[in-house]
Amino acid sequence: MNMGWLASARGPLRGRVRVPGDKSISHRAIMLAAIAEGTSRITGFLEGEDTLATARVFAQLGVRIEAPAPSERVVHGVGLDGLRAPAAVLDCGNAGTGMRLLAGLLAGQAFDSVLVGDESLSRRPMGRVAEPLALMGARIEGCDGGLPPLRITGGVRLRGIDYASPVASAQVKSAVLLAGLYAEGETTVTEPRPTRDYTERMLQAFGARVAFSPGGASVIGRPRLRATDVRVPADFSSAAFFLVAASIVPGSDLTIEAVGMNPRRTGLLEALRLMGADIETGPLREEGGEPVADLRVRAAPLHGIDVPLALVPDMIDEFPALFALAACASGRTTVRGAEELRVKESDRIASMAAALRALGIDVEERPDGAIIEGGTPRGGEVESHGDHRIAMASAVLAQRTQGVVEISDVANVATSFPGFVELATAAGFRLDAASPPG
Ligand code: S3P
Repeated sequence: MNMGWLASARGPLRGRVRVPGDKSISHRAIMLAAIAEGTSRITGFLEGEDTLATARVFAQLGVRIEAPAPSERVVHGVGLDGLRAPAAVLDCGNAGTGMRLLAGLLAGQAFDSVLVGDESLSRRPMGRVAEPLALMGARIEGCDGGLPPLRITGGVRLRGIDYASPVASAQVKSAVLLAGLYAEGETTVTEPRPTRDYTERMLQAFGARVAFSPGGASVIGRPRLRATDVRVPADFSSAAFFLVAASIVPGSDLTIEAVGMNPRRTGLLEALRLMGADIETGPLREEGGEPVADLRVRAAPLHGIDVPLALVPDMIDEFPALFALAACASGRTTVRGAEELRVKESDRIASMAAALRALGIDVEERPDGAIIEGGTPRGGEVESHGDHRIAMASAVLAQRTQGVVEISDVANVATSFPGFVELATAAGFRLDAASPPG
């Protein structure tokens, strides 16, 4: 069913909100807990469709995972060599992270496996992980030049490699490191720009021998992983929608509680501040090895900027939200060096350019970004292309439009942000389910 929303401005956003757990960390927590020895407890786990798909995959691989309470998982790890051959294909749903990391982890197993995904995931490039994994000796076959499904042949010997990745991608780095757990010797990945480092941090917490610094990581093969409890912080990428909404809706004063503040994720904060946003970061504290802070956002006059290239990887998931803010800022915002946006859950440059144009904003698309002329957005119809972040960014922008914004195809918001409508409404959004046509 093509679920939709009707969204429009209501008034200032106020109060305090707490967004769900981090998607990247939730995926990795299930994966590492599954191949560790002993029982790990995960708290703050994201109950999103992407991470639920990853948990289901490990259940198919013979791992017992209990859910004693919402956002809690108890994972009975089977050890590095304890996974069992699945009886059916492994469905990663909409999750690029799930599929790419699993490709690395499954490449070193004794059994064969097949990874499949939904329509959007089936269009996303997997050659970027299949190629380095092949250099390690893995046998992975995709379709049509590297698209899912991925057929992984088990029982091969993997060897450590020193891989200079051509793309700044935490998913590529992580796939190679996870395969490196099963490889002989040391596996090293260097990346053209530093990306999120959750895999290497968590591997260390589970007892693997890893070394890392911004831009690279190494792991020694065949470690003994020991069960560890993981506390997942709130997802900065989910908080981002509220940061932008409260910045653009006049009179807003909103606090987002206990947000994960890993510096490889918070590029948007810097970009927003450069644009004039008023965001106060409360004292940084540590939760489960990650920095977290409360963020207080008040509406402020905003202006366009050239988004600094160096910020791009640290805000790669936040461009839909940034486009929404740029649409209401005075003057021009330029985004460059963000060609990776074209291979996300949708082509996010094209999807957001179309959304902004539908609401009366001028956008010039570039192969690696866009030029957005800020203005006064009006109501209209927006297509989210089944992309959760396009749907949420459009709902945010609607809080500052004159007129109603009709947003189609929003069901995938549940992949990363279950409860978004309820939380946004409580903060002051006007956001209602639209009846599907017919
Ligand atoms: C992720 C890495 C990023 C990001 C994605 C999650 C991860 O992708 O866009 O939402 O958990 O490693 P790339 O590493 O491919 O840029």
